[in-house]
Amino acid sequence: MAIAITPTHDSTDDSAVPDAPARFSALLREATRTEHSEAESRGFITRLMGGELTEEDYWRLLAQYLPVYEALEQAIEAAAASDALAASFHDPRLARAAAIRHDLAARFGEGPEIDAPLPITERYARRIREATVPQLLAHHYLRYLGDLSGGQAIGALVARHYQVPREQLTMWDFSGIDAPKRVKDGYREQLDGITDPAVREEFLAETKLGYELAGELFAALDR
Ligand code: HEM
Repeated sequence: MAIAITPTHDSTDDSAVPDAPARFSALLREATRTEHSEAESRGFITRLMGGELTEEDYWRLLAQYLPVYEALEQAIEAAAASDALAASFHDPRLARAAAIRHDLAARFGEGPEIDAPLPITERYARRIREATVPQLLAHHYLRYLGDLSGGQAIGALVARHYQVPREQLTMWDFSGIDAPKRVKDGYREQLDGITDPAVREEFLAETKLGYELAGELFAALDR
C-alpha cells in the first residue's frame, strides 16, 4: 500500500450525518448485504462447497476467474501509475492471476486445454477494463476481500470434498502477506480513508453490479 489516502475532509464530518455510517467499510458491508447473500447462495457455488459437484467443476470455475483477475490486475497497475487513490490500494501481493495460472498448470500441465471464457466472463472482464478508478476499486474490494473471506472456505472445502492438493490451491493462499483477518482489517482501514461522497457513491453502485456479475458467472457454470 504505497500512498496514504488523504481524506478530503475530517472524518468527524461523516458522523455528523445521522443516516450515514462514518466508516465507508461499514457502509459498504451494510449496503451490499443483500447482494452478497444473493451471490453466495447461487446453486453452483453452494453445491460446489457442499461436495455435490465434481473436481472438474472447481477447475471450470477457476478457468473463468483467470480473465477476470488478469483484467483487474492489469487495470489496477495501470491506474496506480497515475492516480493516488488507485496507488494506495494497489498491492501486488494480493494479485491472484499468477496463482490461478500456477494452479491450472499444476493440475493440467501447460497445455492449451483450459476452457475458453464464457460470455459472462468476457462481460465481467470488459467491465473491469473500462472502469473508472472508483469502479475499479469496487472490483478490487469485491475480489480480494471475497477471496480473503468466503474464498478461504472455498479453498478448504474443495480440498476436502474433491481431494485437490494444497499445491494446486495457491489461489486462496495469502500467507505471503499476513493472516487473512489482518489483511482484511488493513484493507478496511484503506476503505475508511475514502470520504469523498461522489467516490463513495460510484464505488458502492459498482460493488452492487460486481456482486451481480459474480452471481451471473456462478449461474453460467450451472449445468
Ligand atoms: C459461497 C460463496 C461465498 C461465501 C461462503 C462467502 C462468505 C463470506 C463471509 C463469511 C464473509 C464475512 C467475512 C468477514 O467479515 O470476516 C464474506 C465477506 C465478503 N465476501 Fe463473501 N462469500 C461468498 C461469495 C462471495 C462472492 C461471490 C463475492 C464477490 C465477488 C464475495 C465478496 C465478499 C466481500 C467483498 C466480503 C467483505 C464484506 C465486508 O466486510 O466488507 N463473497 N463472505
